[in-house]
Amino acid sequence: MASRTLPIIVIFSVFLTGVVSADENLRNLANKLFGTIPETMPGSEKDTPEKIELGEKLYFEKALSVNKSQSCNTCHNILNGGSGSDNLKTSVGALGIMGRRNSLTTWNAGFQFAQFWDARAKDLEEQAKFPLLNPNEMALPSEDIAVKRLEEMGYLNLFQQAFPEQDSPLNFDNITLALSAFQRTLITHDRFDDFQNGDDDALTQLEKDGFQTFVVKGCNACHNGPLMGGKLLIKMGLVKPYPNTEDKGRAEVTGNPAQNFLFKVPPLRHVAQTYPYFHDGAGETLEEAVRDTGWHQLGIRLSEKEVDEISAFLRALNNTKKMSFQDK
Ligand code: HEC
Ligand code: HEC
Repeated sequence: MASRTLPIIVIFSVFLTGVVSADENLRNLANKLFGTIPETMPGSEKDTPEKIELGEKLYFEKALSVNKSQSCNTCHNILNGGSGSDNLKTSVGALGIMGRRNSLTTWNAGFQFAQFWDARAKDLEEQAKFPLLNPNEMALPSEDIAVKRLEEMGYLNLFQQAFPEQDSPLNFDNITLALSAFQRTLITHDRFDDFQNGDDDALTQLEKDGFQTFVVKGCNACHNGPLMGGKLLIKMGLVKPYPNTEDKGRAEVTGNPAQNFLFKVPPLRHVAQTYPYFHDGAGETLEEAVRDTGWHQLGIRLSEKEVDEISAFLRALNNTKKMSFQDK
């Protein structure tokens, strides 16, 4: 029986491969290597509408910076199609101090294996404590100041609704919990998702060529999974040394020199919008970032045609979900 059906299956699948279109082959490859961005973020099961609403208000709350000049949105702009970053080389804090790293986007951040360029926070909840108290960012002198200010501004009611099971819900931990609940709603959608879901026309021929080049050159070795990144720590300058050695990356967290220059592989979803590039913001344009990673991470000089194709493909990853929040 088996020996009779086998040849039929073989003939049938040869026939199938014959009729499968080039687009279908690309789609299968895309689904295998990347996949679409999921509809919901891990941990969102416990996010009630009240927590999310409070978190949204806090995300735009300037009273959470020392001189009431900055909110999270200042450096992670999500209004009117904003990139979720500040588009500065490196961020400038509430007191005017320039930080040493390029702002990462808050869009899709919670899908990653860890937060920050050096993965020093394990999730969004842990992450949110850093900017509030970081002297180079929102620079609050203490956790208590944040709580006291929100109390004075009449936030208690909103915290009671968001954390109904607690007796005194207005505390620092709940600020970070609410912020993370809101950020778990920041999920992008783009034309590459539409293509993977079956719409051949979602990508132009140039973008499809760019996708193929991206894979053929091996970019997906590090930029993998639905975000095309956010899953690994890799040495910046893996093959050809990166000229800026001032920032030691992961080694600064662990003190282990073997981890010098390890940085998180950044997601490439809507990357065209989050210029400038790299942890130090040294890559000014998308083309430059593509050319430079080809060199530093793969040791290859991409041709200008390849750079253009890949860049066109990466521009197809722009967020098409027109999420637009009221300016608060
Ligand atoms: C002064 C600008 C600034 C402010 C204000 C700020 N951030 Fe950031 N944020 C940054 C920078 C710069 C980084 C990257 C720093 C690093 O990796 O060391 C970052 C990283 C992050 C990340 C990690 C993303 C990733 O891909 O790893 C998240 C999430 C985030 N910020 C959320 C927030 C929230 C929530 C607030 C408000 C409580 C906030 N930020 C306020 C500049 C800022
Ligand atoms: C060996 C792993 C690896 C490979 C292969 C790789 N990258 Fe990267 N890529 C990284 C890391 C790590 C960074 C962040 C480095 C930093 O900022 O210090 C990065 C950064 C980038 C950035 C900047 C993103 C941002 O938000 O700043 C772009 C764009 C990029 N890569 C595209 C590509 C392309 C296109 C290819 C293929 C030609 C490629 N990468 C191959 C690891 C890799």
